[in-house]
Amino acid sequence: MVVRALVVCLAALWAMFSRAPSLYAETVSHFGQVVDAAGATEDCLSCHDGQIATDVGYCLGGCALSSAHPVNRPYPPRGKEQSFRSADELEGAGIRFINGMMVCISCHDLHNPGRHQLAIEMKESRLCFACHLK
Ligand code: HEC
Ligand code: HEC
Ligand code: HEC
Repeated sequence: MVVRALVVCLAALWAMFSRAPSLYAETVSHFGQVVDAAGATEDCLSCHDGQIATDVGYCLGGCALSSAHPVNRPYPPRGKEQSFRSADELEGAGIRFINGMMVCISCHDLHNPGRHQLAIEMKESRLCFACHLK
């Protein structure tokens, strides 16, 4: 009985620690830190605040070309669907959204060791035109 209970208990613990994190996090080594490659904008900004890591210009509304790109906006933006490629097509090309929102990892892929760890390379602004049709 006791042995059986112990086995059940260990199995439950194993399930918790081995499986649960992979459901919620996608850990990756990132400049000497272990971070979640599937992290939300807020997770990225917890370090990219100008103290721990480079401050990034981001924008939550009224964004201009000269300022930073908007994040935490619905994709595709409502009423402008015809100007943007469909989310399904993009997800097949490696662009990710979180709950239908455009986030940091829509443009960045922390698994990509290349310059600026972009989801799609910037050659001829390919990254931009992946989403923007016009
Ligand atoms: C635990 C802290 C931490 C977190 C969380 C974090 N970063 Fe970083 N990141 C760093 C550090 C440190 C560097 C390297 C030095 C610097 O840029 O200040 C860096 C560099 C980068 C670079 C520059 C890469 C290059 O080649 O120039 C990008 C892009 C980046 N991070 C994106 C992200 C994104 C997107 C997220 C969220 C998914 C994220 N980071 C989360 C700490 C973090
Ligand atoms: C629309 C696409 C896009 C979004 C959204 C985006 N980035 Fe970037 N990011 C880029 C590109 C492209 C670069 C390369 C530098 C450049 O051309 O400005 C870059 C550069 C960076 C760098 C390197 C900056 C440097 O000066 O070395 C960091 C760090 C970074 N981004 C983090 C983030 C974080 C964190 C977020 C979310 C708040 C984010 N990015 C959102 C496209 C994006
Ligand atoms: C993952 C898809 C995606 C990528 C990649 C992307 N954009 Fe965007 N872009 C959007 C969305 C969504 C908006 C918000 C449109 C809205 O809400 O009206 C936007 C808005 C903009 C705006 C207008 C800002 C505003 O608030 O009206 C500019 C300028 C822009 N993007 C330039 C770029 C450039 C330059 C790149 C390449 C570095 C790029 N975008 C890459 C999806 C993307």
